[in-house]
Order: sequence, then structure tokens, then C-alpha cells
Amino acid sequence: MDSQEWPVPVVPVQYLSESGLTEIPANYVKPPSERPRAVSFLDGPEQGLEIPVIDLGGLVGDSGERQATMQAIWDASKEWGFFQVVNHGVSLDLVERMTKVWKEFFHLPMEEKKAYANSPKTYEGYGSRLGVEKDAILDWTDYFFFHLYPDSEKNLEKWPLRPEILRGTTEEYGRELVKVCGVLLKVLSVGLGLDEGYLQKMFGGDDIGACMRVGLYPKCPQPELTLGLSPHSDYGGLTVLLADERVKGLQIRKGDVWVPVQSAPGAFTVNVGDQIQVISNSVYRSVEHRVIANSSEERLSLAFFYNPRGDLPIGPAPELVTPHHPPLYPTIMFGEYRWYVRKLGLHGKLALESLKAM
Ligand code: OGA
Ligand code: NI
Repeated sequence: MDSQEWPVPVVPVQYLSESGLTEIPANYVKPPSERPRAVSFLDGPEQGLEIPVIDLGGLVGDSGERQATMQAIWDASKEWGFFQVVNHGVSLDLVERMTKVWKEFFHLPMEEKKAYANSPKTYEGYGSRLGVEKDAILDWTDYFFFHLYPDSEKNLEKWPLRPEILRGTTEEYGRELVKVCGVLLKVLSVGLGLDEGYLQKMFGGDDIGACMRVGLYPKCPQPELTLGLSPHSDYGGLTVLLADERVKGLQIRKGDVWVPVQSAPGAFTVNVGDQIQVISNSVYRSVEHRVIANSSEERLSLAFFYNPRGDLPIGPAPELVTPHHPPLYPTIMFGEYRWYVRKLGLHGKLALESLKAM
């Protein structure tokens, strides 16, 4: 298939939402087995399960605190693939400015946003779908996607011009999040018994990749029939999500249960992506998650993806491979895997499973 253009014209979900329709179009209606269960998130934590909340301040405490904090990160990355971090060093002021500028962007006139319409070639810009399958049932979300690093992939011309402070604020946010991810990669490396710089080096050292998907989940008249975002694992390295504390929606898969995430104030939700599952030879897990739509409030989320550079080969770390632990994945270029996922769209852990056969 030629995947340079979308298979059918893209209609922004925000446009549908604001048009005041009372029933969602048929191409957003999921088959019954894929719909959210009505009670699954509105009632708060199901079965008392909640992803761990970790205070990163412990990493600069005494050695006991440091050890306990690292252990909490290792355990969460193995058991959940997800955790929240507080005391992460990114100022609340920056977090609030970042949220505000992107909300403002999404409330510009539709014509102005459409000038940034993206294509499946790079996904950069304003869009509403993931994957190029023609008859796919779509998700109830719009997004803006762009690269921050490496410099060779960053294309400022594709970033919104308005609001005026958006570009500078977003660059500042990117620099801060790179620091947070650098710290987390060190901790994760040590947890594998590797040198603390190991994962960073595999990702490209000082020249890593990073991109963002700012997601808008407009109000949905029939949230029980669709999803804000279909189940998927993240294809990259680490994801740091800033989600609205007031509007829930993210759910993490824990066995057969979907566990809702209630963002702690000022917290980031961090998750392990497919590349870290691959390098760790499945010690750390890249876990499926999804987003529920809702009828009462619009939701904004900012996902920062910290990735290997596209031209680097990624496979299980040779140090972790033994006769008892054979490599579970082949080594392929990150850019090649990314391309594969982008064509496929969001299908649980299908991409990672397919990698075994590549
Ligand atoms: C993603 C994602 C969750 C959210 O962009 O990969 O899972 O809450 N986002 O928007
Ligand atoms: Ni995701």
C-alpha cells in the first residue's frame, strides 16, 4: 500500500464533537468486545489497584533512600511497566505553561490548525488517525505530533506558530524532560546489572531521539461505544505523560483488568516502551494501555517519547543473554520498527510480538 497519504479524508474529532451530534459516526463505533465496560473507570480504582507513585527526591537522599527509590522503579518497571513520579525536578510553572499553550493551540480556528495537517509519511503535525488501514475503526482523539531530537529530525517549521510562546515553551519542556529521562535510564540500567550509562549509550548517547504527541480528547456523546485511544504499547524507549489531573481516562492493563490512572498533582506518568522491553530481554515490560472517552469534559494529555535515534540497531543486551535466557527478539534498526508500527496502527502488543518473527 502507498502510505504517503491517508486512505480517506481525515475529519478532526474536535470538529465532530463541536458540531453537536448526539450519536457518534459508525466509523468510531468499536465492536462490542473492544468497548470499555461502563463502570470501569468512573468509579475510581478498580479492585483497589493503583500504579506506584514514586518520589524521585529519594534518588538524591542518603544511600538507604536511594536504594529504596531505585528498587521501587525496578519493581514497577517489571510488574506494571508503569509508575508515576513526583518531585521530578520539572517546575510546576513550566508544566502549567506547557498545558496552557497547547490548550490554546487546540482552540484556534479549525482552518488555522488544518494548515498543519499531517500525513502518514512522518506523522508530524495535526492529525486524527494512527495507522493507514482503510476500514479501521477510528479513535476519539486528535493530536499534534512533532520531533524534538535529534536535531536532524526536528523541523520547527512544522510546529505551530501560534500561540507565539508555544515553540519556546515546548523546547524548554523538552530540555527538562530529557533530564528526567536520563536519570530514569541510569536507574533502569543499574537494575539490569549493567553500567549506569548503558541504556543511554544504546539510545545514542548525547544524540538521542525524542518526540511528542499532544493529544486532545474532545467530549464524546457516546463514550461507552468507542475509545479515546485503542489499546497499545508504546513503540519507543520511555514515555513521560503529563495528563490532566481533573479528567481521567488513561487505563493500564494488569492481567485481564484495566486499571485507571488517577494522576497525582504535579506528577508525570512514566512507562516502559517496547525498546526497553527488547533491550532488557523482557525483564522490564512495555505494557498495554488505552484511553477512555468521556461525555462531560475535554481532556488534554502531553506524551513525551524518549527514544533511541532512528538509525541505531536495537536488540537484547548481549550481557543479559545466556543459555538459560536466549534472546527473545532480533536486533533491528529502531527507525525500521517505528515505520512498521506507524503503518500498522494501534493493536495491543501485536507490533512487539511480530518483531519476534522479523
Ligand atoms: C500515547 C498514550 C495516553 C494519554 O500517546 O501513546 O498512550 O493519556 N497517551 O493520552
Ligand atoms: Ni501510549
